[in-house]
Amino acid sequence: MIELQHVTKIYPGGSSGFKALDSIQLELPPGEFVAIVGKSGSGKSTLINLIAGLDRPTSGNIWVGGKPIHAMDETALATWRGLNVGVVFQFFQLLPTLTIAENVILPMDFCQDFSKRQARERALALLDQVGIADQADKLPTSLSGGQQQRAAIARALANDPPFIVADEPTGNLDSHTAEAVITQLAGLAEAGKTVLMVTHERDWAEFAHRVVTMADGRVVGRKLRVDRVNNLLLEADHV
Ligand SMILES: Nc1ncnc2c1ncn2[C@@H]1O[C@H](COP(=O)(O)OP(=O)(O)O)[C@@H](O)[C@H]1O
Ligand SMILES: [Mg+2]
Repeated sequence: MIELQHVTKIYPGGSSGFKALDSIQLELPPGEFVAIVGKSGSGKSTLINLIAGLDRPTSGNIWVGGKPIHAMDETALATWRGLNVGVVFQFFQLLPTLTIAENVILPMDFCQDFSKRQARERALALLDQVGIADQADKLPTSLSGGQQQRAAIARALANDPPFIVADEPTGNLDSHTAEAVITQLAGLAEAGKTVLMVTHERDWAEFAHRVVTMADGRVVGRKLRVDRVNNLLLEADHV
């Protein structure tokens, strides 16, 4: 469960700062694929960065998986994030001097007690899961954009976190490659993870169980879609 209570984010600047999120109230059940949509500047990235513990609210409370992350100090938050959240970015953000497998192993080094061999085996299994095991020992620049984003998804799964956040993961991919990446993310939710994806391409929201629409730092629409393995109910507003 993710629960936000009166969450406000004010960025410094100007005389009174800029209010990017305005008293957000939001509850998201576990195990869903949630799309966050809205125009550029509406607060989507700010919202998922706060839920992922990558940034902090100016005021308000954020509970993720039963933990009050608003109340954690930096050290506790970093530890919590490493074990609980996998992050996928628009520009992949793989480290260019490490191989694909080394990129996937890196988050394990911070959180797990794996031997070198265990870590490598786990990385290869994750790369296999996203369909690019054969790219494991290459450098990121020799992969296509779609392959790099798959590698980034494998890296996000390194510590088997219950939450995955993806900020416009298809923003740099052609539509065919993008669909493959979206299908991967949807599959993670089917496997029980909670997946939050920001997208400004409405088409991709069709793949989600739930759509949250943002405008001017507020949630202006919530729609439940759901087909969770043909349990149906597609489209219901304000839930
Ligand atoms: N670090 C920052 N400092 C100042 N303003 C910011 C910062 N990050 C975002 N903003 C502003 O907050 C608003 C929301 O930004 P963002 O959450 O990135 O929106 P979105 O992801 O929907 O495009 C925008 O007006 C943006 O300019
Ligand atoms: Mg954004």
